[in-house]
Amino acid sequence: DVDQLEMTASLKGFPHYMLKEIYDQPEAIRNAFRGRLIHEEATAKLGGLNMSPQELLRIERIQIIGCGSARHAGIVGEYLIESLAHIPAEVEFSSEFRYKNSPLDRHTVVFAVSQSGETADTLAAVKEAKRKGLKVLGICNRVGSSIARETEGGVFMHAGPEIAVAATKSFSSQVLIFSLLALLLGRLRYLSAREGHEIVEAIEALPDQVAEVIKLDSQVKELARKYVQSRRFLLFGRQFQYGVALEGALKIKEISYCCAEGNPSAELKHGIIALIDKSTPSIFLCPKDGVYDKNISNMEEIKARGGPIIAIATENDDQVAKIADEVLYIPKAPEYLTPLLTIIPLQLFAYHLAIFLGRDVDKPRNLAKSVTVE
Ligand code: G6P
Repeated sequence: DVDQLEMTASLKGFPHYMLKEIYDQPEAIRNAFRGRLIHEEATAKLGGLNMSPQELLRIERIQIIGCGSARHAGIVGEYLIESLAHIPAEVEFSSEFRYKNSPLDRHTVVFAVSQSGETADTLAAVKEAKRKGLKVLGICNRVGSSIARETEGGVFMHAGPEIAVAATKSFSSQVLIFSLLALLLGRLRYLSAREGHEIVEAIEALPDQVAEVIKLDSQVKELARKYVQSRRFLLFGRQFQYGVALEGALKIKEISYCCAEGNPSAELKHGIIALIDKSTPSIFLCPKDGVYDKNISNMEEIKARGGPIIAIATENDDQVAKIADEVLYIPKAPEYLTPLLTIIPLQLFAYHLAIFLGRDVDKPRNLAKSVTVE
């Protein structure tokens, strides 16, 4: 099956599928929202959910399940849904959900997130939720996959084949789909037409902004060269950036085999600060958002203890440059969409780090693209 996919997804001149798929992201994002934004109504249209506006209005809670990068996209999704649609949302590892016996009521909708649609734990969690009589929807890339078939409906990603074991464009595509879902549910509830319009326009601006961030590639490569001896990295982000910190750390682990840990920035003082030394770089996701000042003071605490800091910040932010050793600048976007920009330098950093360490980037040791056993 994978061989079949490899034939259809050529490298197009890139040395690895992972790098090609990172560069595919503007297109993957465009494909995720193509035909799904309605300007006149300032909302999104997700026909695959197979739910009427009345049914959508009755949703009182959203339970997101997934593994690996899919779960990380779900964490960003939780913040999107709660802030734009004001619906309580929760994310759980599929592997925990399937045995946990969570008390969920009938107004809960479960979203199973899976690129392959074949992950054993997610499939089993879907079946368990269905057995409990819950409505289960999918966010999958592979049409006709087991999870796509087991769910009552959902949203297809249309990201094209993802060959590299480490997920890149599928993560972005899933986050984008959560933004559409949050917009749709929000417009049925609290979001005004004007707010809806702003979101529609911000989503449409993303492919160009992502393409802009990808241009940081050579700068990121030099950073990876500089820090290649580090072998352990701490990543920090809060709120919309928390899931990104987890996902960036996962990329580093998966393909470079370096230790990397993603944390909510404020957890620093609860133990993590003991790890700070001059050979442990901290990567900070600190775009100009509601928790910017908090991130700045966390960075100062790290700097005071001699830890190197790489910051990912919003363009024209001079304050951050006075604290961080390195700064990568991303374009300005609403904070709920910024994860789609901040993840790019982290993917590129993991990629170049892995290359400098001589790793097999597309087929890292001990990992499989889709884990079909428990
Ligand atoms: C494996 C892959 C990851 C992926 C996870 C979930 O661990 O190596 O890249 O995020 O499975 O896969 P899914 O197909 O369910 O999204």
